[in-house]
Amino acid sequence: MHPFAFFVILSGLAAYKAQLCKNDAVMCEEIQYVLDGEPVRLSCCVDINNSSYITWFKNGSQIPFASDSQSRIHENGNALWFFPASLEDAGYYTCVIKNVTYCTWLIVFENEENLCYNRSALFTNEQYLKATKIDCPFIQDYVDVTKAQITWSKECQPLQNEEKYFALAETLTIQNAVKQDEGLYTCAVKFEHNGTEYSLSRTVDLKITVTAASRLPFMRNPSNNIEKVELGSAISLKCEVINSDDVIIWTYNDSWADEVDGSDTRVIIGDINFSMTEDNEPMFYRYLNFTEIKEEDYNKKFYCKNLNTMSKAYVMLQRPDPNLQPFLIAFFVTLIFVIINIVLLAKIFKIDIVLWYRSSCFARKHIKDGKLYDAYIMYPKSLSGTNSYPMDIFVLKLLPEVLEVKFSYRLFIFGRDEIPGEAMSDVVDEAISQSRRLVIVLGSTQSSGDLKDEFEQQIAMYDALIRNKIKVILVELEKGIDYSNMPESVQYIKQKQGVIRWKGELTEANKKFWKHMRYYMPPTQGKNLQHSDSNTFNTC
Ligand SMILES: *[C@@H]1O[C@H](CO)[C@@H](O)[C@H](O)[C@H]1NC(C)=O
Ligand SMILES: *[C@@H]1O[C@H](CO)[C@@H](O)[C@H](O)[C@H]1NC(C)=O
Ligand SMILES: *[C@@H]1O[C@H](CO)[C@@H](O)[C@H](O)[C@H]1NC(C)=O
Ligand SMILES: *[C@@H]1O[C@H](CO)[C@@H](O)[C@H](O)[C@H]1NC(C)=O
Ligand SMILES: *[C@@H]1O[C@H](CO)[C@@H](O)[C@H](O)[C@H]1NC(C)=O
Ligand SMILES: *[C@@H]1O[C@H](CO)[C@@H](O)[C@H](O)[C@H]1NC(C)=O
Ligand SMILES: *[C@@H]1O[C@H](CO)[C@@H](O)[C@H](O)[C@H]1NC(C)=O
Ligand SMILES: *[C@@H]1O[C@H](CO)[C@@H](O)[C@H](O)[C@H]1NC(C)=O
Ligand SMILES: *[C@@H]1O[C@H](CO)[C@@H](O)[C@H](O)[C@H]1NC(C)=O
Repeated sequence: MHPFAFFVILSGLAAYKAQLCKNDAVMCEEIQYVLDGEPVRLSCCVDINNSSYITWFKNGSQIPFASDSQSRIHENGNALWFFPASLEDAGYYTCVIKNVTYCTWLIVFENEENLCYNRSALFTNEQYLKATKIDCPFIQDYVDVTKAQITWSKECQPLQNEEKYFALAETLTIQNAVKQDEGLYTCAVKFEHNGTEYSLSRTVDLKITVTAASRLPFMRNPSNNIEKVELGSAISLKCEVINSDDVIIWTYNDSWADEVDGSDTRVIIGDINFSMTEDNEPMFYRYLNFTEIKEEDYNKKFYCKNLNTMSKAYVMLQRPDPNLQPFLIAFFVTLIFVIINIVLLAKIFKIDIVLWYRSSCFARKHIKDGKLYDAYIMYPKSLSGTNSYPMDIFVLKLLPEVLEVKFSYRLFIFGRDEIPGEAMSDVVDEAISQSRRLVIVLGSTQSSGDLKDEFEQQIAMYDALIRNKIKVILVELEKGIDYSNMPESVQYIKQKQGVIRWKGELTEANKKFWKHMRYYMPPTQGKNLQHSDSNTFNTC
């Protein structure tokens, strides 16, 4: 029977009910209608299968009915039978089980004149499908529907069009139902009880709501799709069949899907249910619920089948993809952190890194620029030549000891390396053009002694050379150097690149100073190159 099919019209009966069932009787919801002269069965509300527990009374009377099956009215099981009912049987009936009284009631009606029904005792049936079905209601208690001969009539006229109607058991199918097929359909069945023939009749008010542009039946859900679901969680799979009949089953491997594992509580197939879709089309649906997903549920095809249209579709459960987002966020945060640290470290250890790189094998390329010297040392030379001024100690002793001896640089130091007799300007010009760096050592004017003029002369020359893009290293031996009468280019270099300042006593052990010095110096060409012109350099 379709879930929405039958409701007895109960208008005005609520008050009647309340009036009838007095004496604290428990009211049953059920009202029985019976046509005068037809059999009827009243059942006690409680399902007790032993008539010796139950006593039936009419109208609150004290006299119980007999259980003698000879009587027209007798009890059997938990029911009270009328063979047949007559008008005077109308009233309320109570069944008493121990100290509890249940109340049910019976309405005996007559058909309207010249008709086979009474409009106040109709069953309703609302249909949404083109292939409409009507069941003859409540006859299973009386006859075996598979054997009974049920005759149908519409508006009390026998059905004519045999193409359109098809009756099987208690069901009448109306093909291609249209609005005109609405109406009152009466089913009648005859049966024998102890040699006497009785008949039963029911009248159904058929309403048809077939949407105008009704589509062919189709299954909306599932759609051979994959559902992602976590292990251990619950999921509801819904099968939806539109414009079709209600025969929907959920299967796995051609068995009922809820037999997939032995327990009948973890996997549940719901009842078939009905509703209208958003497009106002009739839809039957049925759930397949998993209360707890287990490993074995994954990667199986659970089919929903519509046995009417023989259509089917599956849904497959799969483990959800791992959520990568937190991992990615963590990864990028770490990456940024690491990069910041690397940048910071690179800044702090820039000089060490550059020096290390130069000392490594990859960087050992012979610079083929044809120059003789790594640096030209420009400084205010003292006249005395005693090497007693700090400037002289630094330039003539410390610089060669460290840069030349220890790190294998070739220096041109004015006042040491020039050949006597040459014109100073020629020497300086030539030497600087043969050097890769120009180191300008600055001290206080005092320490530079009388040769201040010569130094300034050199500087002026350098000023011209700076346009040849020679790199300049400024070294301050003491604080407070006055740059005011230096060329603009020197002031510019001090501002742009800064100076390397010597701090403390004039001894060799000033690691930081020498590191800076080497950083600004070109990569060392190695010991071998100083003493031979060989281009091969194979210490790696
Ligand atoms: C009631 O009992 C009868 C026999 O006493 C049995 O045939 C019938 O199946 C039972 N019905 C129910 C609903 O238990
Ligand atoms: C019904 O209950 C009575 C009392 O308990 C018992 O004697 C009788 O056998 C039962 N009858 C059936 C059909 O179970
Ligand atoms: C109760 O029964 C009596 C007699 O059988 C009848 O006259 C009366 O109308 C009944 N009452 C109802 C409410 O059916
Ligand atoms: C019926 O009797 C039982 C005890 O035998 C009692 O517990 C129960 O409340 C009673 N029911 C009513 C409706 O009086
Ligand atoms: C139809 O049945 C009701 C009882 O439900 C009754 O009162 C009414 O008189 C009946 N109609 C006809 C025309 O007999
Ligand atoms: C059938 O009815 C006859 C008399 O009408 C009666 O003698 C017989 O016992 C009944 N049989 C049954 C099973 O009710
Ligand atoms: C499917 O069912 C058949 C027979 O019922 C059985 O032999 C087969 O093992 C089943 N397959 C699976 C995957 O359960
Ligand atoms: C299946 O799940 C749906 C949706 O959660 C729920 O409405 C329905 O009642 C469940 N059915 C069963 C039989 O558990
Ligand atoms: C349809 O669903 C409603 C509520 O979800 C439920 O009360 C009713 O029993 C269901 N009908 C059928 C035939 O399963």
